[in-house]
Amino acid sequence: MTRKKSTLLWTLALLLFAISSCEYTNIEPIEVVLPDEKVSFSEEIAPVLASKCASCHQSVAPILSAGNEYNNLINGGYINLDTPAESILYTKTSGGHPAGSGLTATELAIILKWIEEGAENN
Ligand code: HEC
Repeated sequence: MTRKKSTLLWTLALLLFAISSCEYTNIEPIEVVLPDEKVSFSEEIAPVLASKCASCHQSVAPILSAGNEYNNLINGGYINLDTPAESILYTKTSGGHPAGSGLTATELAIILKWIEEGAENN
């Protein structure tokens, strides 16, 4: 084996070792821990809908038109009390939204908790 070739092989071996010894830590799904208190629609849900959704939803699918959010969500069938995680409000905002809903993991968890607690106009 020529000197050049063996140097190349050693370099390759070293490179492979370096790559294989890299540790990839698995990315854990974000776990959101919410306080036990009941979620308040007027204090925790409505402001989020107003700031993150109303800009588009006054004209497009006006389910979130200002002032009527609660009635529209309930009457429009966006809430599924039997299977909260299948509520359109939740499925659309947690991945199925055409424009990306822009909600944080915490905001999504709050929405789900609110539905699980009966989706009250509280
Ligand atoms: C950038 C614009 C935009 C923003 C911001 C936005 N949406 Fe949407 N949303 C759309 C569009 C466009 C559609 C599809 C409308 C259609 O299918 O008629 C849609 C569809 C939906 C639907 C399904 C409507 C239906 O009748 O099936 C829901 C529910 C929804 N959005 C909820 C939200 C929520 C909640 C937020 C805020 C967290 C939000 N959207 C923010 C543009 C937006």
